[in-house]
Amino acid sequence: MNHIVVIGSCNIDISVTADKRPKAGETIIGQKLSVSPGGKGANQAVAAAKLGANVSMVGAIGQDAYGQLMKDTLKACYIDTTYLVERADTSTGTAHITLAEGDNSIIVIAGANATVDKSLIDKAWPTIEKTDLVLVQNEIPLATIGYILKQCYDHGIPVLLNPAPAMTMPQEWLAYASYITPNEHECQALFPGLSKEAIYSLTNDRLLITLGSQGVGYVRNNQLHIVPAFKVSPVDTTGAGDTFNGAFAYAIVNGQKKEDAIRFANAVAALSVQKMGAQGGMPTLDQVKQFLAERS
Ligand code: ATP
Ligand code: RIB
Repeated sequence: MNHIVVIGSCNIDISVTADKRPKAGETIIGQKLSVSPGGKGANQAVAAAKLGANVSMVGAIGQDAYGQLMKDTLKACYIDTTYLVERADTSTGTAHITLAEGDNSIIVIAGANATVDKSLIDKAWPTIEKTDLVLVQNEIPLATIGYILKQCYDHGIPVLLNPAPAMTMPQEWLAYASYITPNEHECQALFPGLSKEAIYSLTNDRLLITLGSQGVGYVRNNQLHIVPAFKVSPVDTTGAGDTFNGAFAYAIVNGQKKEDAIRFANAVAALSVQKMGAQGGMPTLDQVKQFLAERS
């Protein structure tokens, strides 16, 4: 137990802070620039590894300084990078983030993430087939996501699908995932035009909806139950969903029941939103234990 494979994106986050978002055609003066490791895949890998999970990262970077920064970051968290491939003909993915008016807006340039294909999954299969849980998100090509879901399902390997950022995908793929973890907006994109009742019935107790400062809704017997978030003062919520997913995965592979795992992951995410950067506030297990002890 305790082994997780994350198959997903590696980005360098280039973030700027400003008082407001510029309108089309407008130039404004901002405040701060930061360049830090991110990407939904790498964020989830780091969140789980910092808690103590044994994590393997499957993904792609460019042969550039950003790629080296990403590799160093993952290695510093003892994440296995055997199947983090370096591509000579493209750059490391980047995310261009504006932090303004209490929220973020992001443009992602996929770069090497667009080369995460079936052949890389086949190459990494010896590691994937032995794992306790696979995590996958929507920042790699859709065809690869479908391939991962079907291959893992056929071989009895549980998959957590974090369908972020929002996009539609063939509904039959969803039957292959053990956990599906959209936020509210991603949930609408995943099930266009379906009623809540139809979504709950279709996903059959495998759906968890992250609700920001409200917490997380999970479906049991076709009803949504809320596990409330912890009340904190957020500084930067970039990567809150990733932190939740990495922590939830850690808790599940370490034997926690679903509702306990959600509460634990809410605590991890609450700690992380209090610091700048997607990975900047991700806590260790001891920090989470201390936080939970103070809040009980
Ligand atoms: P992102 O795309 O920025 O990673 P998301 O939209 O996928 O985020 P959210 O639903 O905003 O994810 O947040 C994920 C989880 O993080 C929440 O379910 C909650 O546990 C925690 N969280 C987010 N915002 C707050 C907050 N303001 N206070 C406490 N916890 C929060
Ligand atoms: O979920 C947050 C992440 O989304 C950022 O780290 C950024 O890289 C984008 O991919």
